[in-house]
Amino acid sequence: MSPARVPSPPTPARTARQLREATGAARGRRRSEGDLNPLRQGLRLERVPDPCAFVLFGATGDLAHRKVIPAIYQLWRTNLLPAEFSLVAVARRPYSDEAFVAEARDSVAKYSRVLPIDEAAWAELAKRITYQQLDFGDDPGFDRLAKRLDELDTQRGSAGNRLFYLATQPSQVTEIVQQLGRAGLDHELRGGGWRRVVIEKPFGRDYESARHLNHELAKVLRESQVYRIDHYLGKETVRNLLVFRFGNGIFEPVWNRSYVDHVQITVAESIGVENRGSFYEETGASRDILQNHLLQLLTLVAMEPPSSFQADALRDQKLQVLRAIAAPDLEQVRRNVVRGQYGPGWVEGEAVAGYRQEPEVDPESETETYVAGCFQIDDWRWSGVPFYLRAGKRLPKRATEIAIQFKEVPLRLFRESTGDPAPNVLAMRIQPDEGIMLRFAAKVPGLGLDVRTVNMDFGYDTSFAVDSPDAYETLILDALLGDASLFTRADEVEAAWSVVTPIDAAWASMPAPHFPDYAAGTWGPEAADELIERDGRRWRRI
Ligand code: BG6
Repeated sequence: MSPARVPSPPTPARTARQLREATGAARGRRRSEGDLNPLRQGLRLERVPDPCAFVLFGATGDLAHRKVIPAIYQLWRTNLLPAEFSLVAVARRPYSDEAFVAEARDSVAKYSRVLPIDEAAWAELAKRITYQQLDFGDDPGFDRLAKRLDELDTQRGSAGNRLFYLATQPSQVTEIVQQLGRAGLDHELRGGGWRRVVIEKPFGRDYESARHLNHELAKVLRESQVYRIDHYLGKETVRNLLVFRFGNGIFEPVWNRSYVDHVQITVAESIGVENRGSFYEETGASRDILQNHLLQLLTLVAMEPPSSFQADALRDQKLQVLRAIAAPDLEQVRRNVVRGQYGPGWVEGEAVAGYRQEPEVDPESETETYVAGCFQIDDWRWSGVPFYLRAGKRLPKRATEIAIQFKEVPLRLFRESTGDPAPNVLAMRIQPDEGIMLRFAAKVPGLGLDVRTVNMDFGYDTSFAVDSPDAYETLILDALLGDASLFTRADEVEAAWSVVTPIDAAWASMPAPHFPDYAAGTWGPEAADELIERDGRRWRRI
């Protein structure tokens, strides 16, 4: 008999606190909230990235100001960036360093998840920000950028490490990467300096363009240098899906076609297209959400256990799932996929315009703002289990949820009683009200044998009592640490497009839809209800 296992004591070596003492305290920075809240002890990251320069292309754009800069500030504020950090903001417009820093501060004051601004931390970060005007077609401009980055290695100790973050128009990605290659900025140094490129979605607009883009990137960069962002993968609850599935023993045995009836994944938004009308006209819900966020959630639910959480082990398994979804032909698209577009209506008590009345939208637009589909994964685990996916704008509320509905009990022993137990459901609330709910049958107290379904609920806020990081904080930190597990690989992106492109192509070949076909503030077109009700099932009421 093997000796009983003694639980190991908490590792004393290199706790986050010690690490901060070794780094942050030495830099004379303030104590972070992790020092103040004992619940957070032991939960913090134990690594700080290498010294580096963060080169932000598209630095004057919306994404940079709403997401990237506030995330960098938050990482800095909590001592998760090295002292030898510099941010080089790059865009076409002329700016002085001071003017850019002032605008960046305004954005942090507006969008940071922890306010008010920590002035001391901001002042330290601001010293590390410079602005460089650059036209992306300008060869000498990129040579100047290369020179500037070399200078920062000496002045700021960034040690040749550079992260190029492309928060630009998708059409500019190839040109920028070619320029990085031409100016030698892609070369990793023998002494250890690394070069990484982060690319925002959308990655291409169909299978062919994504393949072409991957091909162009591969001329300059190794795949391990490319970090393709799908921000859903950085969400705390999405990362928890992996922990839930592979950190618990009791779910794996029932996680398959023998026990699961079907899966529903919903990405509902109450907002419309806001100020992104022209972008959305070219994109629509299938390219904007189905190709990436919805299919990524599906892969995490359906994949086989990876051998480790190393990037490639994880991505290999996700890829297998995507490859097991048969590309739909025209008839299957007609039958299994529904598109919709919102008309005027009421959302959260306010009258809102229809999609065709939104700024920069064609008054006769055929772009879909809603998509729902039934997908089959043709593998041993899931064969015959439908995955119903839906996403839409101007739905009644913002809610992202994954629901696993289990099969009914084989014999309805309680049929004669007043309540018929509904099948078990495991619902993972990705946002908001993050948590996990298990629905099961219980006896109603009393002398009879009445049965009702009840919910067992886990909520992040009540269990952990801490704020989760924003997805961008997680992803930026991972990219700086060289961990690509939450980023999508070239073959994975292409496999996702090979599911979605036939849908877009089929729609393009069909007669114009009768849009608008759902009122803002409702749960999408009737055809979406018919899609699932045809199979004797219903969309969950969220
Ligand atoms: C983006 C889409 O990728 O995700 C937007 O382009 C959408 O249209 C957004 O609104 C939703 O993200 P989140 O994190 O608010 O669910």
